[in-house]
Amino acid sequence: MVQKRAYISETSSYLPDTVMTNSQLEKVVETTDEWIVSRTGIKERRIAHKEEATSDLGVKAAHKLLEKAQLDISQVDLIIVATLSPDYIFPSTACIIQKKLKAKCPAFDVVAACSGMMFALATAKGYITSGLYKNIMVIAAEKVSSILDYTDRSTCVLFGDGACAALVTDKPLSDHAVWMDEIVLGSDGEMHQALEVPSGGSVEPLSKEALEEKRHCLRMDGRVVFRHAVKRMISSISECLKKGNIEIDEIDYFIPHQANNRIIEAILKRFMIDPQKVHRNVEYIGNVCAASVGICLDEYLEHRSKSDQNILMAAFGAGFTWGTMILKGEGR
Ligand code: UT7
Repeated sequence: MVQKRAYISETSSYLPDTVMTNSQLEKVVETTDEWIVSRTGIKERRIAHKEEATSDLGVKAAHKLLEKAQLDISQVDLIIVATLSPDYIFPSTACIIQKKLKAKCPAFDVVAACSGMMFALATAKGYITSGLYKNIMVIAAEKVSSILDYTDRSTCVLFGDGACAALVTDKPLSDHAVWMDEIVLGSDGEMHQALEVPSGGSVEPLSKEALEEKRHCLRMDGRVVFRHAVKRMISSISECLKKGNIEIDEIDYFIPHQANNRIIEAILKRFMIDPQKVHRNVEYIGNVCAASVGICLDEYLEHRSKSDQNILMAAFGAGFTWGTMILKGEGR
């Protein structure tokens, strides 16, 4: 029996227009443009307006997606949202987005931090190939700035806000549709404290002390996260290539999570990947967490060469979580 395919028929992305440069950050914390660029590759990032919530960023990406796909919201069967900076602990950001889009379909969040888009796309693939749904809107949206401690130079310089959306379908709805082939997902909760928001959940409900110590903000042991990001992405890429029975040389384009240029370089070196084949936007938008790979995919698909048939996406995030996926072109 031929396995049903799940297509990414259309993509979109949205970035807030406010740019925060490294020199602006120099005025906020003890840092330098030189340190940030040499240690991460980041020059600037986007910051959402005060009144703009994560759901608003997601809604903007969703509207663009519907317009590009020429689809009415009533034709969407399910909305899945990936985020680590939700509007509320509950209800889900997906329900807020559903309301703002005037959608009637079911909607839920996926929490897998910076690997969120990979987990959400894999979930969508499962629903499509099972035949349960035909058109699924996958959104990743982040207002990371809302959970950053702007007195902690080791984290606040790294992240930015933004959103992406993908229309996952049972049939290719555009001539630039790609389909999701092999997927490898992984989690390891042993290191969950290496990257977390300590306060505000059931373990440590928000308190005056927690607020004073900024424990409601993102905290990270950067070195540990760096080491595991390289290790886990390398092993999941190897596993995915093996599963797909494909060699690294056959990958036409590579879309890695954009946390740090040095992480990307380490992966390229390990697989001897041509830097020309690699998508990068960390320089201009920083680490947009769950939305990072989806924004890259949208930028890439705008200009995808007809000869690119095998595209590899890989992400890593808090939890720890990681995911690698091979996307295939069709008829191009
Ligand atoms: O998307 C989820 C996954 N996230 C990631 O993958 C992030 C992974 N981690 C990283 O990218 C890197 O570890 C960082 C960029 C966070 C840090 O880079 P690093 O080279 O590992 O720096 P470090 O933490 O070892 O710190 C080196 C020095 C320290 O000073 P001392 O102790 O050597 O005097 C830090 O205090 O750099 C200092 N430092 C800074 N200096 C200027 C840390 N942040 C800054 C800063 N400006 N913003």
